[in-house]
Amino acid sequence: MKNFTVIGGNASEDLAKKIAKKLDAKYLKSNLRIFPDGEGKITINGKPKKGKIIVVQATYPPVDSNLIQLFSLISKAKQYSSNVIAVIPYFGYARQDREFLQGEIITMKVLAKIFKGLGLSKIIIVDIHSKLAINHFKIKSKNVSAVPQLVKYFKKLRLNEPLVVSPDLGGSQRAKDFAKIYGTNFIALKKQRNKKTGKVLIKSSNLNEVKGKDLILVDDMISTGGSIIKAAQFLKKQKCKRVFVACTHALLMNNAEKKIRKAGVSQIISANTIPGNTALVDVSEIIAKAIV
Ligand code: R5P
Repeated sequence: MKNFTVIGGNASEDLAKKIAKKLDAKYLKSNLRIFPDGEGKITINGKPKKGKIIVVQATYPPVDSNLIQLFSLISKAKQYSSNVIAVIPYFGYARQDREFLQGEIITMKVLAKIFKGLGLSKIIIVDIHSKLAINHFKIKSKNVSAVPQLVKYFKKLRLNEPLVVSPDLGGSQRAKDFAKIYGTNFIALKKQRNKKTGKVLIKSSNLNEVKGKDLILVDDMISTGGSIIKAAQFLKKQKCKRVFVACTHALLMNNAEKKIRKAGVSQIISANTIPGNTALVDVSEIIAKAIV
């Protein structure tokens, strides 16, 4: 066994265990107790080994509670080791990477200061929302991509020359990478989001190239499902064949999965950065590789 200890936060227990196994590291579980007033008390089960400590905790909902637990686990780990790495498989708040409307706070900047203050050596994230978000960090950081693993899964479905589609221009590079690894073509739709209401509109005009084709919509995350629903409805109107969805982080808030299926999507496949029934793609190996 290596001189590594992996501490699994409450939000990422299964993934943390898998990472520990891949690293041949000691695994420590953490326990969370919620007091009646909503305060959480977090405890680690046992003592880490001497050497590097890896804290694994995603910050999906309840976002702030999972974030506080992450801070607490890092702080505890620092009592045992000067070399603490945080693996944040899904990084909630990454979309708050710039001031879209006057007066907004760039929460990524605030978090970057906290992580530096905690004395972390490195942060590893899977498919962070934007380069801008990761650039706020003042410590070593690495973004790993789940795209090759997602492609591997889709290859097993043996679709007939699928076309890869990004629901927006911002996701073009991701769709391009997916299509390149898969060995097929890609297109990107034009999406417009109302910054105040969050409502989504697809602005693309008629697309002949999707007619009769199986499509794979590729996105970094699904939150309310608004982007995927609007894209799927638009693509169905263009007389495409089936629509599949590949995304890294499936938050699927407010019954999004049901709504997405109702919009005509055949299957949603996501990574295990967020546990759930669509999380069929394991990213423990790519994370473990980024640690050593
Ligand atoms: C947007 O730029 C992102 O890549 C996602 O498309 C978006 O955050 C998904 O959110 P929702 O599911 O609420 O449309």
